[in-house]
Amino acid sequence: MIETDITKMFGIKHPIFGAPMGPFYTTELTIAVSEAGGCGTLSHTNLFGKISVAEMKKNMLHVIEHTDKPFGFNIRTARMQPDAQTLCRQIPKFIMSNPKLKEQVRYAITSAGTARMLQGSKAYQKLKAKSEIKNFHVAPAFWLAGKCVDAGVDGLVVTGTEGGGHQAYEKIGLLVLLQQIKQQYPDFPIIACGGLANGFGLASALAAGAGAIAMGSRFIASIESEFHERYKAVVPPAKATDTTLVTGFLAPIRLWNNNYTAHHGLVGSKQEKIAEEEELSLEDLIEDQKYYEMIYDGKIEDGAVPLGQSIGAINSLEHVKDIIETIVSDAEIHLKKAVSYIK
Ligand SMILES: Cc1cc2nc3c(=O)[nH]c(=O)nc-3n(C[C@H](O)[C@H](O)[C@H](O)COP(=O)(O)O)c2cc1C
Repeated sequence: MIETDITKMFGIKHPIFGAPMGPFYTTELTIAVSEAGGCGTLSHTNLFGKISVAEMKKNMLHVIEHTDKPFGFNIRTARMQPDAQTLCRQIPKFIMSNPKLKEQVRYAITSAGTARMLQGSKAYQKLKAKSEIKNFHVAPAFWLAGKCVDAGVDGLVVTGTEGGGHQAYEKIGLLVLLQQIKQQYPDFPIIACGGLANGFGLASALAAGAGAIAMGSRFIASIESEFHERYKAVVPPAKATDTTLVTGFLAPIRLWNNNYTAHHGLVGSKQEKIAEEEELSLEDLIEDQKYYEMIYDGKIEDGAVPLGQSIGAINSLEHVKDIIETIVSDAEIHLKKAVSYIK
């Protein structure tokens, strides 16, 4: 057993979180991760024109039908995410109205935009006063960590550029970020994320001051995840060099190399990205979303396939329970070995 500030804060057995993976569904995955003693996370989902608020409510109710354990949800609070404000208002109200949700929804992870949006929601503040919910915000850059702390979040998901999906323009690796942020905020609760896939990853993150890890790619390659079988099958044979950062909808995004990445470049800075966004029409955005819908249907050669460099360290599809238990018991061995170096 590994007990940390984060396992105690969330009432979970193992210091392992499922990373949010919108716009895809991670509902069955959430159940599997939470049932296995970690904390699963529902994604901000709006595939095929679905309304994200309705989907989130439906997914939450599905989770509490299948597990009594704690879990979380993600809201992407980005400039380009038109439904973010509505989710920040409506989801806390929805949780408040259902005693089982109020007890089980412990983790609100916000990302890709401002940390102030959920913190500024009256409904969220009411829920916070009456429940155990905690809001962590994704910090993929050192400067952003300070803004999150000032906004009043309870913790940070420190995410390195190795990770799959949207990333920061700064492109800083997880270990450097952890050192920077721990140096400045030594006691602030931290979940490490990006490039983590096994017991060495968990042991190193804990040694670097995190209280838990979050993984995306490792859980895509699980029996329980609801990603298409062709998407899952990419992971075991892939190398760490098989991903590229390209310009995504919200920021740079790390994708598996295929026909899509071959035809998409990477803008150099946030300023360039904002200028580019000003040129974009609603049709362009809807068109881009189609590349994510394609891969959900298994057309992985031509669609956008988010995966992280950690795919180079993942060699098999496994049950979520086995993934979590192996990572924790291996990390215990590695940490004990490291402690034995101290004389
Ligand atoms: C398919 C996919 C979709 C993602 N979508 C989101 C998202 O909607 N919100 C978010 O905060 N992060 C998103 N991410 C980033 C993950 O939460 C996490 O940072 C990343 O998977 C960590 O790297 P790893 O894949 O090496 O574990 C996504 C990642 C992947 C692989």
